[in-house]
Amino acid sequence: MAKLVSSWSKDIKSLPENYVFPPDQRPKELVAPLYNPPIVDLTKSADEARQKILEAGRDFGFFQVMNHGISQSLINEAMDVLKEFFDMPAEVKASAFTADSSKRCRLYTSTFQYDTEEVHFWRDNLTHPCHPLEDCLQLWPEKPTRYRDIVGKYSVEVRKLVLKILDLICEGLELEQGYFGDELSRIHLLSVNHYPRCPDPSLAMGMQRHCDPNVVTILFQGDTNGLHVFSDGKWIGVEPIPNAFIVIIGCQLQIISNNKLKSAEHRVVTNSEVDRTTIGYFVIPSYECFVEPAKTLVDEHNPAIYKACQYKEFLSTYANENGKYETLMEFYKLQT
Ligand code: OGA
Ligand code: NI
Repeated sequence: MAKLVSSWSKDIKSLPENYVFPPDQRPKELVAPLYNPPIVDLTKSADEARQKILEAGRDFGFFQVMNHGISQSLINEAMDVLKEFFDMPAEVKASAFTADSSKRCRLYTSTFQYDTEEVHFWRDNLTHPCHPLEDCLQLWPEKPTRYRDIVGKYSVEVRKLVLKILDLICEGLELEQGYFGDELSRIHLLSVNHYPRCPDPSLAMGMQRHCDPNVVTILFQGDTNGLHVFSDGKWIGVEPIPNAFIVIIGCQLQIISNNKLKSAEHRVVTNSEVDRTTIGYFVIPSYECFVEPAKTLVDEHNPAIYKACQYKEFLSTYANENGKYETLMEFYKLQT
């Protein structure tokens, strides 16, 4: 499909007009990496891991996980097959292309608002559910032929990791065992972003400033920079650490933890050197589920900061507010 950036970007020399962002939305500031980035090493004791997660969640809203036990070769194979997917000829990708958000497997470009947005993002995306595997495999792309096999294995392993991290968060916040086990983690989506090399990264954006609306996101960014997190009033670059996953705290976890963990505001910039592919794994509540600050974290000294909200309602506010962190969270604050 000719709309996909990956289908035409190799043939152009300069950035098309409709990808040029207004000056105030461009990635103009110099972005330095953190001197001491938040890292959780899963070979360390559970106590240490829990503490690191709580500190990182409180201070930054994200952290990177090392020594997670998922093999480098499986991750490499998954990255290869996903890059191969976006490198397929435009006519092959066209069969999967749909901006219809009711479709369970969607290949689209920029955002779902492509037809109405003024400027497009330099990004293609493939999203589909990834659990339970037997119910969703048949929705997935058939090409490349290894796709279902490799991405299936990857999804199973990342799911185990995400459950481990949710357990650590649950214990760290001293919530009852299995707090995240049911409705709060009902939907598991794989969301693959592809940002082809860009003729002018200073004018374009890969993804706008946003927070993730869900519970938690596990992102693999390979070895290419591009993710920025807003922290202490400035943008910081999340430097790739070989074989590490980035865990991004979502808005629901901020609500449940009553602000003990905060949702990271982040954005994506492009580069002119290499194509960048990232694999997001999103843990999402059921749409019917009401999310509220955990009862055990609320008492007379620590009043609830947020009201209970049905996840589908939160999502529609998220869409209306364009994923803007401050206004979105403010909307669900209880008046004090
Ligand atoms: C996302 C996201 C970051 C990246 O998919 O929500 O923020 O680096 N991705 O692709
Ligand atoms: Ni995000």
